[in-house]
Amino acid sequence: MTDQATATGPTATAGDDLHWLLNQYRAAEVHGAGAIMRMSKLAETSALRASLVRHLRDEAVHAWLWTRALEDLGGEVFTVPEPYQQHLSSHYGIPRSLDDMLVLTLVSEKRGVAQYVNHLDGAPASKTIQQTLRAIIKDEEWHVRYIREELDDRMRRNRSVAGLIERAEAADERALAELKAHGSAPIGW
Ligand SMILES: [Fe+2]
Ligand SMILES: [Fe+2]
Repeated sequence: MTDQATATGPTATAGDDLHWLLNQYRAAEVHGAGAIMRMSKLAETSALRASLVRHLRDEAVHAWLWTRALEDLGGEVFTVPEPYQQHLSSHYGIPRSLDDMLVLTLVSEKRGVAQYVNHLDGAPASKTIQQTLRAIIKDEEWHVRYIREELDDRMRRNRSVAGLIERAEAADERALAELKAHGSAPIGW
C-alpha cells in the first residue's frame, strides 16, 4: 500500500481506513519533528533551546509510537499526503523568522490536540490506540502551553508578534474550511 487512493479505494476495509489514519498521524509527527529541529537552530535563549530539544524528542517518540501501533495492528508504514500542513503554509506564506515558525507551530499543535482528543472521544478504539492517544495528548498539551508562553513573552517585547498570531489563526481557519469542504479532517502535530 503506497498511497491514499489505495487505502481508501472501493476495496478498502475498516482496517485499511484505520491504517491510513495512523499513517497520517505518523507523517504529521515526523513533519513536526523536522520543523522543531529547524526551529531549534534559530532559538536565541538556552531556555527555548532546552524546550525545543524536549519537544523534538517528543515528536520523534510520537512518530515511533504510531509506527509501533501500526505494526501491532498488522498495518504497513507508507507515505501519505499532509493536507493540513500544505493548506496552512499556502495561506500563511513562507515562514521567514523564528516568530513565524512559532506561530505556525502553535496553531498546528492546537489542531493536533483537537484531532487526538476527538479520536479518543469518538468511536470506541482498541486498547493500543487509546493508550497511545492518551500518552501523546499529555505531551501535546505541554507543547501548546510552552509555545503559547514563549509567544506571550515575545509579544510583550514586540507587539507585531500579535499580528503574526492572528495571521496564523486566520490561515488555520482557512485551511480547516478547505479540508472540511473536501471531507477530510485536519491533522496537526
Ligand atoms: Fe506529537
Ligand atoms: Fe506536538
